[in-house]
Amino acid sequence: MKDLYGVLGDPIAHSISPEMHNDAFRDNKMNAHYHAFQVSSERLADAVKGMNALGVRGFNVTIPHKTAIMPYLDRIDPLAKVIGAVNTVKLEDGLFVGYNTDGRGFVNGLKESLSAPLSSLNCLIIGAGGAARAIYYTLVEQGIGSITVCNRTVEKAEKLTEDHPDAEERRVIRLDEAEKGLQQYDLVINTTSIGMKPDTEAMPIALDKLKASAFVSDIIYNPLETTFLKTARQKGAAIQNGLPMFIHQGAQAFEIWTGIKPDTSRMKRIVLEKLGG
Ligand code: ATR
Repeated sequence: MKDLYGVLGDPIAHSISPEMHNDAFRDNKMNAHYHAFQVSSERLADAVKGMNALGVRGFNVTIPHKTAIMPYLDRIDPLAKVIGAVNTVKLEDGLFVGYNTDGRGFVNGLKESLSAPLSSLNCLIIGAGGAARAIYYTLVEQGIGSITVCNRTVEKAEKLTEDHPDAEERRVIRLDEAEKGLQQYDLVINTTSIGMKPDTEAMPIALDKLKASAFVSDIIYNPLETTFLKTARQKGAAIQNGLPMFIHQGAQAFEIWTGIKPDTSRMKRIVLEKLGG
């Protein structure tokens, strides 16, 4: 009998996760299957109960359920708790335990391309949603030099930094302040959905003051190069799209479920084929 895994989301039809994980199961000769489940917010509690009753070994959680699912789980890992969102659930002794692999996935992906140590970098995060929280906490945990958050709603950015237990120095600015002071930052990360299909011309902030030696990252991978990244590249900056984060968050989830580190270059090939890139 196959072990069952999956992802819960709404919408979920275009998810690339099933191809990526099913290929990793095949590659590791595991008798397992990963399925995309379309679950509305109203049915989320029932879905979690049903997954448990059916003995589903593990699953991912995506938009819009990453925070809403937390009360329905039996235990939450401390990092996921502080982030306030769960993207990975594992069945442990009959109980569902929630984890968050987005932040670690982002940082593992970043380290593939970054030559400087994190401790030498002044970082600017744009946005203060769930993805920003995961990335912020992981970068702080990994010893980033300094970190500033800018967001349209400044209060949300303040809440993000205040929620961090170890944050001594909380730097929060408006979007226009970020634009004016952009030359201070070595690492600039867009965590908002601005620039995602179909509104691909939009940019979260203007990049006029970006320094040419900066590294600019966008968590969006559809399109593979957002206008934000294209503009940064034209200014001489090194760029990275959201694919490494997507792949590494998936690889971390796979490892939580199975104890096996999957082949991330193979995962990347599968995802690129699916995206037609
Ligand atoms: P996620 O959990 O995927 O990170 P989210 O919690 O909805 O998504 O967060 C979206 C982020 O994108 C927020 O920082 C949001 O800014 P606000 O906190 O001010 O809402 C930002 N965002 C989304 N659309 C935006 C827009 N048109 N202009 C500026 N910021 C935007």
